Amino acid sequence: MSIPILLDCDPGHDDAIAILLALASPELELLGLTTVAGNQTLEKTTANALRVLELVGRGDVPVAVGADRPLVREREIAADVHGDTGLDGPDLPPPRGEPVAQAAVEFLAERIAPGVVLVATGPLTNVAHLLDHARPDRIVLMGGAIGEGNRTPAAEFNIWVDPEAAARVFASGIDVTMIGLDVTHQAVVGSAGVEELRGVGRVGSVVAELLDFYGRFHRRRYPDLDGSPLHDPVAVATVARPELLDLRPARVAVDLGEQSRGRTNVDWRGRGAPDPNHTVALGIDADAFRRLVVERIASFG
Ligand code: RIB
Ligand code: CA
Repeated sequence: MSIPILLDCDPGHDDAIAILLALASPELELLGLTTVAGNQTLEKTTANALRVLELVGRGDVPVAVGADRPLVREREIAADVHGDTGLDGPDLPPPRGEPVAQAAVEFLAERIAPGVVLVATGPLTNVAHLLDHARPDRIVLMGGAIGEGNRTPAAEFNIWVDPEAAARVFASGIDVTMIGLDVTHQAVVGSAGVEELRGVGRVGSVVAELLDFYGRFHRRRYPDLDGSPLHDPVAVATVARPELLDLRPARVAVDLGEQSRGRTNVDWRGRGAPDPNHTVALGIDADAFRRLVVERIASFG
């Protein structure tokens, strides 16, 4: 019995691989995508979601357009990481299809039902808005960090862009699993992995070109990592193959100040009572995860 998921994303190189992993995972049924401004503007993240689906002939998966800016803060994008298109690297044709007419929040609210898991891999603006209309059983989000951030020393990008939205999600009482940088920086695909992907078919070759581009930023900023962390695919793998993750109960609070804007203060060491609905990932079987990604990307041919 597959797990139905909705994926709220800001494609973005790693979001694109997360979408492909979700489509290629028999454990999951991808009900639809919603887009949010983040790695690039909403127009570009939406076009990219459509391009990725069409790359593998899945233009049937509906895409609904969400928020073009955070709840209260100014919009910030990450063109320095993902390029002007948000998916720089491979030459992907412009989308042929269109998003659905329905706005993302209504689209999500209509599809939230018992057993449906909402996976969020961008800023949490759409998810925060959704909570006024529907409550998912579970949210698995890529964001935050127990330790060092990436957009600032204190904060990870998705949370930093819209900390008010993230604070609302963590305070909602919903079962939230946080996949932060501490675990995604263990899930790195290095040059050998990229070459393996390049050799497993047409889609693997596109993913390799995505990682060629994505790797430029990471080699500069993180010379200690051998390649690019697959942040968003780890969130999808957490639903499809939870046994690959070391998940712990925790309590997560979001800093809304200025100097540490968007920092996730994660108490997983039992300093206080853990929130019964917060879970944080501490570790991953990185080799098994990399094998999973290669096998499933290869399955597209
Ligand atoms: O900090 C990494 C996260 O921010 C990833 O989801 C990436 O796609 C960007 O959205
Ligand atoms: Ca993302």
